[in-house]
Amino acid sequence: MPQSSTSLAEHEATSVAYGPLEIAYDSRVLTPRDWTRQQSTWAADLMQDLPDGPILELCSGAGHIGLLAAHLSGRRAVLVDMEPTACHYARLNAETAGLGEFVEVRLARADAALRPDERFACVMVDPPWVPTSEIDRFPEDPRLAIDGGEDGLDVIRDLLHVVAPALLPHGVALVQLGTSAQVEQLHTWLDTPDSPSLTITEVRVHGDRGVVALLEQA
Ligand SMILES: C[S@@+](CC[C@H](N)C(=O)[O-])C[C@H]1O[C@@H](n2cnc3c(N)ncnc32)[C@H](O)[C@@H]1O
Repeated sequence: MPQSSTSLAEHEATSVAYGPLEIAYDSRVLTPRDWTRQQSTWAADLMQDLPDGPILELCSGAGHIGLLAAHLSGRRAVLVDMEPTACHYARLNAETAGLGEFVEVRLARADAALRPDERFACVMVDPPWVPTSEIDRFPEDPRLAIDGGEDGLDVIRDLLHVVAPALLPHGVALVQLGTSAQVEQLHTWLDTPDSPSLTITEVRVHGDRGVVALLEQA
């Protein structure tokens, strides 16, 4: 539940507890969903055995998922979102968490955000995954944050082409989707010749709220 609110010029800034972090946001970005902390804690658990290297979060919104992973793991992080308000809050939330020196927020499309030589131990992705025909079910959510195209997978298919070359050897990706059926579809696509060299090795289903898939280098 929102814990406090402050009036800004046109939008109401609200903050919510996200585990140990305090996350500010407003209606121009997706409201942080508490269950997604499980993507952060899974990442932190995995990172105990991953090579040294930073975290990358694509589609970070207000930054909470990547920030909590950075807080728990002690690793540096790069957070990327193409929406200016999301990046404003991600920077603010990093400062509030005491992570300002360890987290870089980049306002960019994911496919233009990285230098060619950058590599990451863990890439976290929370793409828009709602099929276009269903976005009217979520009238409060910004379209850019949720519209995943015809089958909900348009954005993640594009982003996995960014993720695969950005992984360190033995690095992993944790990708959030909406349903197990979408994970199956992604799995099928990853078997096709022009798809990135990644394979889904574990899936955690969080009721009807969402699914997180672990992807490793194929
Ligand atoms: C489903 S929201 C997730 C936000 C946040 N992780 C959360 O849990 O609230 C998807 C985010 O991806 C961003 N986005 C969509 N397409 C993008 C792209 N191609 N590159 C970078 N960011 C993108 C949107 O602006 C939005 O903030």
